Amino acid sequence: MLIKETLKDEAVGLTVKLKGWVYRKRVVGGKVFIVLRDSSGIIQCVIDRGNVDSKTWINAEKITRESSCIVEGVVRKEPRAPTGYEVHVFKLKIVGLSDWFPIRGGEGVDYLLDNRHLWLRSRKLQAIMKIKHAVLQAGREYFNKNGWWEVTPPIITGSACESGATQFEINYFGQKAYLSQSAQLYLESLIYVLDKVWSLTPSFRAEKSRTRRHLAEYWHLEAEAAWYGMEDMVKITEELVSYIVRKVLDERIEELEFLKRNVKFLENAKPPYPRIRYDDAIEILQKKGVDVKWGDDLGADEERILTQEFDKPFFITHFPRQIKAFYMKLDPEDPRFVLGFDLLAPEGYGEIVGGSVRENDYNTLLKRISEFGLNPEEYKWYLDLRKYGSVPHSGFGLGIERTVMWVAGLDHIRDAIPFPRFRERLRP
Ligand code: 4AD
Ligand code: MG
Repeated sequence: MLIKETLKDEAVGLTVKLKGWVYRKRVVGGKVFIVLRDSSGIIQCVIDRGNVDSKTWINAEKITRESSCIVEGVVRKEPRAPTGYEVHVFKLKIVGLSDWFPIRGGEGVDYLLDNRHLWLRSRKLQAIMKIKHAVLQAGREYFNKNGWWEVTPPIITGSACESGATQFEINYFGQKAYLSQSAQLYLESLIYVLDKVWSLTPSFRAEKSRTRRHLAEYWHLEAEAAWYGMEDMVKITEELVSYIVRKVLDERIEELEFLKRNVKFLENAKPPYPRIRYDDAIEILQKKGVDVKWGDDLGADEERILTQEFDKPFFITHFPRQIKAFYMKLDPEDPRFVLGFDLLAPEGYGEIVGGSVRENDYNTLLKRISEFGLNPEEYKWYLDLRKYGSVPHSGFGLGIERTVMWVAGLDHIRDAIPFPRFRERLRP
């Protein structure tokens, strides 16, 4: 039985057997109070010396925080207990007696990260992981319900998708290879077979700086579709993101409340999402006195300021060609710009999705590859796609942890993943 099932009036009077870990322990007179936790919740358990056999009493005295145990007892209503109910225990069995647990509360961030394998047991991280589960399920569901094919692109790659500056190099049988930054180039090959494809994979970025929203390893939900233009992809993006938000609100409201998340912005995240062009973004920033000029990339600070203008996610489109990737299609109406879009989450969070129409003309793409100082030889296979039945197409990538960070209202991306990877942090 899960603890959650005991936290209701119908369970009162029932004899239950619970398996879990000791979250808190306190001894008062002839009674031991344990707060037991499992994946579903917490409940207070009382062991009264006068009502149990000597073995159970010895176990109750001996048991330590984070020990695993099996408890048998009767459920009672108890308004003073942390979750309103408690178990009057008649039997307590210790399964794994815990050493002195090294996390007691009040520790600093670095200490907690060093002990991440243990800190995961905190109720905060548990709530976030449940929210992430809903985000992942929603993403899968959205694509499955709408006729997209799931595919499995490689993680070991031979060429850069995004900037070469953030690639992790690996030794591949004595040859240079890289950890994937994005599945995009492979998804582009697969649309020739399956029209509309998606994948969920780890992506890797050797980010130089440690920021609140950058991980070296993150989960990437990507989509690519033949025949799709800018409008089509923007629409898929807003449908997907609103689907994710809806599912989290429907299924994980308790966890959002536990995290004290103000859900106003989530309730509001229904399509359509506003769209502004890069030029508008620069104008807004300049009006607000931000020191940016046309052609500058928008960083986290600029994005944060822009989000103050919106109460829901919004798109920025039509970026200058030099600040975006080589594969983005130039705007036929004004080739200074690309047909690219970012989706920014409100409340200061900023970019959670990056997407674009892809250049599908062989010669233009070849020129763009050279323009970016890339080696056309490495991209020969990618160029082939423009040679054998080229098709207009578009796609995007959504950062799962960025999305969780926003939906759960976290102030740092590290808590959106169980074992965060940054520069200078590899263990546990
Ligand atoms: O904007 P990015 O770099 O776009 C691409 O990789 C495209 N090839 C995707 C595509 O079109 N298929 O990354 C996409 C998203 C970002 O919007 C962000 O949410 C997330 O991936 N992301 C990161 N998340 C955590 N840590 C990092 N270092 C991230 N870099 C990107
Ligand atoms: Mg981007």
